[in-house]
Amino acid sequence: MKVPQVQPWLGLDEYEAIKSCFTDNWVTEGPKSSEFRARLLELTGAEFGEFAPNGTLAIYLALMAAGIGHGDEVIVPDFTFIATANAVAMVGATPVFADVTSTNFQLDIEACESRITRRTKAIMPAHMYGMVSNMDAIMKLANRHGIMVIEDAAQALGVNYYGKHAGTFGKAGCFSFFADKAVTTGEGGFVITDDPEVAHNLKFLRNQGREDRGSFIHPEIGFNFRMTDIHAAIGLTQLGKLPEAKRRKLQALQWFKNGLADVEEVHFLTLEPGSERIPFRTCIIAEQAHELMKYMDAREIQARTFFYPLHKQPAFLKIVEESGVTSEEFPNSTYAYDHGICLPAFPEMSEGQVNYTIDVIKDFYARISAWVLPGLRLHTPRKILRS
Ligand SMILES: Cc1ncc(COP(=O)(O)O)c(C=O)c1O
Repeated sequence: MKVPQVQPWLGLDEYEAIKSCFTDNWVTEGPKSSEFRARLLELTGAEFGEFAPNGTLAIYLALMAAGIGHGDEVIVPDFTFIATANAVAMVGATPVFADVTSTNFQLDIEACESRITRRTKAIMPAHMYGMVSNMDAIMKLANRHGIMVIEDAAQALGVNYYGKHAGTFGKAGCFSFFADKAVTTGEGGFVITDDPEVAHNLKFLRNQGREDRGSFIHPEIGFNFRMTDIHAAIGLTQLGKLPEAKRRKLQALQWFKNGLADVEEVHFLTLEPGSERIPFRTCIIAEQAHELMKYMDAREIQARTFFYPLHKQPAFLKIVEESGVTSEEFPNSTYAYDHGICLPAFPEMSEGQVNYTIDVIKDFYARISAWVLPGLRLHTPRKILRS
């Protein structure tokens, strides 16, 4: 049996949806994009929203629209996909890394506070693996220091925190529609804001410095960050499937939790209080995680590591060196990479695929205990609470 890491949930509905772009002969950003935008604003409750070609550019656009650039520092979690920090660097600002919590690897408030300097312009929490960071504490901290918050909600479309949608707490929130997201358009991104000035900047920055197409007079300087109606048509269909995608992903998580409940070497991440969850992956913390992944890979189960800590990324070595921080300041992101495994959580994952994965994990630990896998020994993993 094969178990892929990611499988977009695309079918005839999406195929039908893009047909009208051909029959209406409208493929650039147009009516479908307007409808997709309206539906996304309805879902998130945000007042304004603009598309970008992908999530990375959505963050880049949000940072630019919020006026962040050279000389500014933006605090980002040390544990996130590199795009969070890349976007900061690409607007000319400096990403400053802060450790994450040990229970679910979201931005840690104390670590974040310890990184605030005179130059800190923004905090950018990244809502990891389909749950929302501790936004109450982050907003309080930011307000106390007069710093803005830009949310990387790339993995958190459809996820609420105490009833309010991810991405709506700070100045702006950014989403990705990449193929592994709960709502995909293949590639795509979206920025939301309630701030009219940021909304104006978003619009002009993405549309060659003007309000709309059709005029060749450009009051400002801008890019072309438009999407196509073909992508929007897919996105609209995907959005309709989001509640069912959520149900299925949560079902897969529950199957994993039930099946692995008696495996002492495996733990699940604690749900952040107040946060809902749409599992982006099925995340486990496991003993001998990297060996287990190899074992799964040999049995055609595609497991993936957690994200590599940003302070260790070759691309950021110079920034880290200049900042004077040391590896000891990131125990939890380091632990996450060493022990974390992303199991799949795609909507069409069958109970059979989950059970096969569970059997392979159990088999691995049984063999280690019986000394059948030479060189591997069990240690007691740090306790991560189940939720
Ligand atoms: C946390 C996070 N931020 C940003 C991105 C970038 O999104 P994209 O791949 O659409 O550029 C991703 C993509 O997976 C992500 O997971």
